[in-house]
Amino acid sequence: MSFALKVINISKSFPGVLANDKINIEIPSGTIHAIVGENGAGKSTLMKIIYGMISPDSGKISVSEKEKKFSSPKDAIKAGIGMVHQHFMLADNLTVLENVILGIENATLRNINKKKFKNEILEISDKYGMPLNPNTTIDELGVGEKQRVEIIKVLYRGAKILILDEPTAVLVPQEVNELFENLNNLKNQGVTIIFISHKLDEVIEIADGISVMRGGKHVGTVDAKTVSKSELAEMMIGKSLPKIPKRTSLPTNEICLEVSSLSGEKLDSKEPFKDINFILNKGEILGIAGVEGNGQRELTESILGIYPLSQGTITVDGINIDNMATRQRRSLGINFIPEDRQTQGLVMDNSLIENAMLGRQNKDMYKTKFKSVNFKNSRKFSNKIIDQYDVRTPNSSTLALALSGGNQQKFVVGRELEDNPSLLVASQPTRGIDIGAQSLIWEELREARDAGLGVLLISADLEELLGLSDRLLVMYEGKIVKELLPEDATPELLGAYMTGLK
Ligand SMILES: Nc1ncnc2c1ncn2[C@@H]1O[C@H](COP(=O)(O)OP(=O)(O)OP(=O)(O)O)[C@@H](O)[C@H]1O
Ligand SMILES: [Mg+2]
Repeated sequence: MSFALKVINISKSFPGVLANDKINIEIPSGTIHAIVGENGAGKSTLMKIIYGMISPDSGKISVSEKEKKFSSPKDAIKAGIGMVHQHFMLADNLTVLENVILGIENATLRNINKKKFKNEILEISDKYGMPLNPNTTIDELGVGEKQRVEIIKVLYRGAKILILDEPTAVLVPQEVNELFENLNNLKNQGVTIIFISHKLDEVIEIADGISVMRGGKHVGTVDAKTVSKSELAEMMIGKSLPKIPKRTSLPTNEICLEVSSLSGEKLDSKEPFKDINFILNKGEILGIAGVEGNGQRELTESILGIYPLSQGTITVDGINIDNMATRQRRSLGINFIPEDRQTQGLVMDNSLIENAMLGRQNKDMYKTKFKSVNFKNSRKFSNKIIDQYDVRTPNSSTLALALSGGNQQKFVVGRELEDNPSLLVASQPTRGIDIGAQSLIWEELREARDAGLGVLLISADLEELLGLSDRLLVMYEGKIVKELLPEDATPELLGAYMTGLK
């Protein structure tokens, strides 16, 4: 057997954490290899080492049996390694062609031999069975197509080893199937794929080998054909999978949030959402399904007063909030889990103590008698979040940027839920969270709902939407195209409404 990649005794520590502890993983050429593990297990750290973004304290990488030393991703790309990051890094106003060649030497947008590049791109898209029109601009593409551009971009640079960090988190079921077809095509052409995911069903479906990490260690590699989901979960978290309880809803008739005729201000001459009407009651979780980019983000932001409206009104607990600034809305108890924890949820280079009071720093509890900041209360609150939401961190003085993605997410969710909200707008609340922590957060959301909280839930995770929501709306191209009950919906049916097929 020949190995595309060997990770040999790799260790990496950060202050207070051994993120990778003598990792040994061998990946056979031309296979799809999944890496799974709890939040903070060390997966991203290992990928960043393989891709030359961070250097290990000790250990080696070998590519096609040759030892390599990378001091930057440039070196890794030269060695045939490419990485598709979880968040797309495409320029929306440029074409597919322009995006693929962006950053390539001798290719500036003014002086490019478009024909040559175009032919090369078409050759690749043909070879790997990933159809693309090089002349389309990115903002005309759906999420699945954008991802295809990212993959082509990496292949164009000659990648033989492709790393994908949670590629399915933003896709609807139909798009996941397409991606898996593409990955199998790539595999059949000899490309080796490394794939991180928290969705164990998918991992078992697509991968050949699965490596499990826990607490910085590699606990084992198993054959995807023979392993079961519960065996995997047990290797990951050291105990069996918690059961998801049945939905038991007790919505009241009291209105929590009402939006009428809501339209967002035009962005690039398009209205991001248009004529939105709905009521959310207290004690209800109202789910919004939709492919990313269909207006959900702008809609949620308009409720917080971040995105401007061109028309419509919003009332919360019977109070009209149209003319209120974001700060006033927050002091009414409108809490917000933003879809992007790093740009909107946290100040990355501040400590957890400082992040715990973010957005509520004007409250009396965060002021001392002498009008200075009361860090004592904020430390108390951050410790409560860390305990209750199982945030893995050395302590509350740790900077947000030092937490793994999933642990950052847990902290944001805990802060917004434990602050006694009157309305919670939750966008992708468990994105990137492992299965154990996800069921913990689902339980917290249910408990808050049962205690009378109204939750507007936006999620790309259909299992989450169907499992948590009392009622569902589907958004497509800025409009609500369907209302339905979760018991009447399957992932496929939702997917069809979400992509405009129905
Ligand atoms: N730049 C950093 N500074 C300090 N600690 C870090 C840094 N990056 C990662 N860590 C720590 O290393 C450990 C592993 O983090 P890593 O991001 O690799 O986890 P992960 O398995 O990718 O988790 P997730 O599923 O949440 O993305 C965590 O405890 C994290 O807090
Ligand atoms: Mg990670």
